[in-house]
Amino acid sequence: MELLNRLIVKTMPIVPKPLIRRVSKRYIAGDTLAEAVRLVRELNQRGMMATLDLLGEFISKREEAAATAAAYVQALDEIAKEKLESNISIKLTAFGLKLNYDFCLENVRQVVQHAAGLGNFVRLDMEDASCTSGTIRIYQTLRQDFKNVGIVIQAYMRRALADIRGFMANGAQTNVRLCKGIYIEPRGIAYKNRELINKNFTFLLDELIHGGAYVGIATHDERLVWDGMRLVDHLKLPKDKYEFQMLLGVDEELRDMIVNAGHRLRIYVPYGEHWYAYSVRRLQENPQIAGYVVKNFFGIKD
Ligand code: FDA
Repeated sequence: MELLNRLIVKTMPIVPKPLIRRVSKRYIAGDTLAEAVRLVRELNQRGMMATLDLLGEFISKREEAAATAAAYVQALDEIAKEKLESNISIKLTAFGLKLNYDFCLENVRQVVQHAAGLGNFVRLDMEDASCTSGTIRIYQTLRQDFKNVGIVIQAYMRRALADIRGFMANGAQTNVRLCKGIYIEPRGIAYKNRELINKNFTFLLDELIHGGAYVGIATHDERLVWDGMRLVDHLKLPKDKYEFQMLLGVDEELRDMIVNAGHRLRIYVPYGEHWYAYSVRRLQENPQIAGYVVKNFFGIKD
């Protein structure tokens, strides 16, 4: 299977762009904010919340970071104007994390402050391991002034437990999206065994919930969804203390089952004109996704 995934990724550059567009369509709302807003409205009508993600990362010029911040401010304004149930998810490398720490912090602060004024929330996505410490530092700095900012923890990272314990030290409130992690990392810093990653996911979820954190349980793995449901039921956790999260276009059957079981669910909605570069890079980074996409496209179940 791994070989097939790699083959799919290798042959991508010769696949016509319109075909890639067709395949990626179910995972990306469109090129424009207007298309994303339309899709979020539909999701809201079907009882699901959303988080908007403007595609783009690893910028190389400061002007690009300013443009990203401005685009997110516009998205927040539109969400407020249209009264949508949606927050935003941002990648710090699109805000200049690789250019200069303080520059990035100030760009992110602007957006978090704007969101606070509108009663909205900003999730800091977690990128590859070279960004982990910087992202955590920015999260903890902003949390001193704002409650409307949250972070992502990747269960494959060996440091994850220490990180969440750091967030919750001295009874501090924290807001974490828990996911497995999407990048390919070396064994020295990340678990490679899928079963172990799953076990760590459940363990971290338990720690977070018992520690009083607000948790976004972000997975399409039905066993982990079951673990999450069992835990919140066992603890009689109020609905406003957690939510499930899924990516746009992935396992819509599971998504409906979560909503029908009475849980809150948020869909991650990427949009923007950089969809092609984004799709190709993601697939090259992690060929396993190519397998998922092809299986989904042909309606093949696990
Ligand atoms: P697993 O990989 O076992 O997938 C379970 C099943 O779901 C697969 O068998 C497949 O059918 C389907 N599936 C999963 N991913 C798919 C895809 N992309 N396309 C088609 N089908 C797919 N990661 C990260 O490093 N930083 C982050 O900030 C985030 N943010 C984030 C937000 C949200 C809302 C979600 C749901 C996920 C993320 N992730 C992420 C990605 C996450 O780390 C992980 O790589 C994917 O969710 C896949 O892991 P699962 O838990 O779904 O299990």
